[in-house]
Amino acid sequence: MVEKLAKNLKVPVTCKIRILPKEEDTMKLVRTIVDAGCSLLTVHGRTKEQNKQKVGKCDWEMIKKIKNSVNIPVFANGGIWNYEDAIKCLEYTGVDGVMSSESLLENPALFSGKVENLDQIALEYLDIATQCKTDPVFVRPHLFKFLFTGLQVKLILTKIFLAKNFQNRNIPI
Ligand SMILES: Cc1cc2nc3c(=O)[nH]c(=O)nc-3n(C[C@H](O)[C@H](O)[C@H](O)COP(=O)(O)O)c2cc1C
Repeated sequence: MVEKLAKNLKVPVTCKIRILPKEEDTMKLVRTIVDAGCSLLTVHGRTKEQNKQKVGKCDWEMIKKIKNSVNIPVFANGGIWNYEDAIKCLEYTGVDGVMSSESLLENPALFSGKVENLDQIALEYLDIATQCKTDPVFVRPHLFKFLFTGLQVKLILTKIFLAKNFQNRNIPI
């Protein structure tokens, strides 16, 4: 499929793979994709079995080996939770870029390296969604992701506050 696309399209063909349980099989897959004409390869450093409850650690070592074995740009994916992780991953694996998914959904400003106010981001997103007349069905889950961490912190703080008041017997009954 990659070969057919690479031969017939005017735009570069990029691919994304997960690693396989055995290193040799992963390397064989990478070689096949590169030989077929792929221009950029993104590697998610987990196997397909590592999902949901079994997510596990992302294998940066394997991504590094892949990067060192090919002559096309390689992007790393998986386990990038914040800006520092992105920098660490770039330095450790030597890849040309990193991709993030889950964390970007929570903080779209992740790659800016700045600590952004997620409530503000939620408001900006609402503005854009309103301008673009986005269906609320799509807006709701995005807002949930932006606000979830903050709401959790507020809930924890409320619980601490209530517990302290209870200890001091200040709770109005
Ligand atoms: C909402 C969502 C949609 C995704 N869609 C795709 C997809 O279409 N193709 C794909 O290869 N991976 C898809 N993924 C997987 C991510 O690209 C990524 O490989 C995975 O989430 C691991 O990266 P992360 O740890 O940064 O989340 C999706 C992930 C999410 C959260």
